[in-house]
Amino acid sequence: MHLDPADEKILAGEQGETRQRMMELLVGLGKVFGAEQLVPIRSAQISGASYKTIGKYGLDWLTNLDAKAVVPAVLNPIGMPRDRWQEMGVDPDFAEKQQAVVAAYERLGIRLECTCTPYYLYETSLGDHLAWSESSAVSYANSVIGARTNREGGPSALAAALIGKTPCYGLHLDKNRQPQVIIDVNADTAGWGIAHYGALGYHAGKLVGNRIPYFRGISPGLDQLKAIGAAMAATGAVALYHVDGITPEAKKIQYPLAGLESIPVENADIMRLFTDMPVEAVAVGCPHCSPEELGEIARLLTGKLVIMPLYVFASQGVIDANRKAVDVIEKSGARVFADTCMVVSPVMEQYSAIMVNSGKALAYVPDMCGAVARIGTIEDCIAVATI
Ligand code: F3S
Repeated sequence: MHLDPADEKILAGEQGETRQRMMELLVGLGKVFGAEQLVPIRSAQISGASYKTIGKYGLDWLTNLDAKAVVPAVLNPIGMPRDRWQEMGVDPDFAEKQQAVVAAYERLGIRLECTCTPYYLYETSLGDHLAWSESSAVSYANSVIGARTNREGGPSALAAALIGKTPCYGLHLDKNRQPQVIIDVNADTAGWGIAHYGALGYHAGKLVGNRIPYFRGISPGLDQLKAIGAAMAATGAVALYHVDGITPEAKKIQYPLAGLESIPVENADIMRLFTDMPVEAVAVGCPHCSPEELGEIARLLTGKLVIMPLYVFASQGVIDANRKAVDVIEKSGARVFADTCMVVSPVMEQYSAIMVNSGKALAYVPDMCGAVARIGTIEDCIAVATI
């Protein structure tokens, strides 16, 4: 694997032990996957930030590192909102440990934005190389933006943030971005909202596994694309997908589709996922809400009163930039929390049935929160939670 002279010096320990260890990690990873070189990255997004997932050993490892990030780097959602954890009912002992994890990352120069939607906060463009961890963010970056990132583990994303480079293999290379299976959607999608596209991703992820799908027969907008990718990365292992005539690479490149397996998806495959099961709480914002989603939720909640816990999750940056919508939402009794989500926060474990508008949350809530999950449109979610 080719390293430039500056990389060689880091590897030789001339810039301290932490950077040496991080370079060793990147080089080792590159060798395993046959990378010929490291490639500079524009940003990093680091998983392994919730104390619920990394625990004591992860915290000890972080605390012993000593270096600073050299590219913009943010964290994945953590187990609680940093400034409103008491209001969310987080256990003080958990909060203390979570604060220690955040402080360890801050010492490493990681920005204290804890979100799976870094693309709303930092400009990310077609062709950018990135080192992002969270599966829905990875899918959005690759598919919707046309940037390039493998699905990094927490340590490799952190190493990339501290070095500013990542091994150039996998989805960083043109040859690995070609469609491998076609999904032909035979449904009238005119009335489909974000939840329907999330359900499509939930269904399609199970069908395609880790192959790169090429969708035909749908015309999703940005929030719908976000929902498809997030769900497909949860029920399958899809880090990149294309949509005919919509996603940037499908518009730019005439991919050869002849000979690929074509899987049909019918309206009934999607609608069977929607039920009217009773729930104890409603949680939306998986992935974290866009400004448009916050605006829509505020519109639906205007003049309504919340009668069961209604959680809305978004990044702090998006919340700050959309204060008016957030105020309307909170006036109804709903709560808008930053930094965390319904899957990584231990608070959600108090409910036995949770309604979501996300295919990804539908897939993860049962295992991560021990609750049954129901998917519904955002209109249905608001109707269930309010009078
Ligand atoms: Fe984001 Fe949490 Fe969903 S990290 S994609 S809101 S499970």
